[in-house]
Amino acid sequence: MIRRLVVNGRARELDVLPHQTLLEVLRDTLGIFEVKEGCGEGVCGACTVLLEGRPVSSCLVLALAVRGRAILTVRGLEGEGGLHPLQEAFVKSGAVQCGFCTPGMLLTALAFLEHHPRPTREAIRAALEGNLCRCTGYTKIVDAVLAYARGDEGHG
Ligand code: FES
Ligand code: FES
Repeated sequence: MIRRLVVNGRARELDVLPHQTLLEVLRDTLGIFEVKEGCGEGVCGACTVLLEGRPVSSCLVLALAVRGRAILTVRGLEGEGGLHPLQEAFVKSGAVQCGFCTPGMLLTALAFLEHHPRPTREAIRAALEGNLCRCTGYTKIVDAVLAYARGDEGHG
């Protein structure tokens, strides 16, 4: 069944089977490997994308259900100047180790900050609790989100 998915502002026409998840279509059909596959059952957050600005676990969403709706992956954050300021903050704070959780963390954090521009550490930690990280112990990730929210990265 040919369907249209809109990924990072670009419409893609592709064959989608009824049982395929958004994660499968993004990675296996479109080759968008920055969307990571972890648990495959909605627990780890590695596969997070933004669906019309809201974080969703793409392993739990059927691709047919999101046809025509705006999907953002971490690559869609990068501007002409390179990394998004939140990505810069992650790098500066040492919040990226193996990097497996990072795309999902970034997208979840940005969606949260959209509605909570001056968050506390506790609120950031709570917002990210659905995104698991095996490497960092979370402190540096929270540091990075806080630095970005405070404008230390020059975004506002
Ligand atoms: S791979 Fe989707 S939540 Fe873990
Ligand atoms: S940096 Fe390795 S899982 Fe988070």
